[in-house]
Amino acid sequence: MAKKGRILSGHRPSGLLHIGHYEGTLRTWAALQDDYECFFEIADWHALTTEYEDTEELPYLVEQIAVDWLASGLDPERSVLFVQSDVMEHAELHLLLSMVTPVSWLERCPTYKDRLTQLGEEASPGYGLLGYPVLQAADILIYKANVVPVGEDQLPHLELTREIARRFNNFYGDLFPEPQALLSEFAAVPGVDGRKMSKTYDNAINLSDPPEVVEEKLRSMFTDPEKIHMGDAGHPDRCPVFVYQHMYNEEARVEEIRAECEAGELGCVACKTEATERTLEVLGPVMQRRRELAENVEHVRRVLADGAERAREVATQTMDEVRAAIHL
Ligand code: TRP
Repeated sequence: MAKKGRILSGHRPSGLLHIGHYEGTLRTWAALQDDYECFFEIADWHALTTEYEDTEELPYLVEQIAVDWLASGLDPERSVLFVQSDVMEHAELHLLLSMVTPVSWLERCPTYKDRLTQLGEEASPGYGLLGYPVLQAADILIYKANVVPVGEDQLPHLELTREIARRFNNFYGDLFPEPQALLSEFAAVPGVDGRKMSKTYDNAINLSDPPEVVEEKLRSMFTDPEKIHMGDAGHPDRCPVFVYQHMYNEEARVEEIRAECEAGELGCVACKTEATERTLEVLGPVMQRRRELAENVEHVRRVLADGAERAREVATQTMDEVRAAIHL
């Protein structure tokens, strides 16, 4: 079957993936595999732009991302799953793109400016951090990807990728297509404290959590703050547990729950129990598959080694063209 084009996207290995990643990103990526030729990259060099001091955990984190991905349905038979640092050609393209990228473009990048603010006055940001979007452009352009599924936070990097591609093409001839961002549309999944699920907030339900932990986390989840006693009328639209009903319960039942909650008939404990059951019904198989994969690290490593080989085939071809275009 003819594919619609080529996709590249990736994650930094900065921690275990959670339900927010699954609903927001991984399910979309998995679905795109039918229509596109997909490359999914674990961006370990990008992780080093900020976490360069403590790298001991990096191999573990890379493996865990791969396990999360495979459990979520990214399929090595159809897609190329690989680790950035296994394909050294990305570094060469990064270097060459850095020649045509004005520093002022990078200094203007909002993610860079945010990071500087976080680091504070005294900070001396690394050269690699400034070049983060150039490396990301190399990741994308080396596969001549047409489409890059990402979250909104990555849009400035995509814009820079297009600008860098355009500038390169102007100097050396039309070599790179300008990739389009594909925004995943989804409302953020709430964490146990009701805020957006995030590792930094320590409120996440991870794909690696065993069922007891998922139960425990959902039991402790915040609810509508105005529903204090069993008979109080609730406000489902202000309740994070109701989001879980929405995501994992049947539509007809969700409307019943809304009515029962608003009437003060349904207590939060019973509601949470039901939400937990439905959540585990849907995510249980993914989490079970994850446990099995985590036991079979050899398989995961083989997938990544094979992916690196397939990625390299494309990357070396592009680099031959790039070197020829630049007369190197
Ligand atoms: N910067 C991305 C993030 O933090 C990760 C990433 C690296 C990426 N290379 C990429 C995403 C190429 C899309 C395409 O999420």
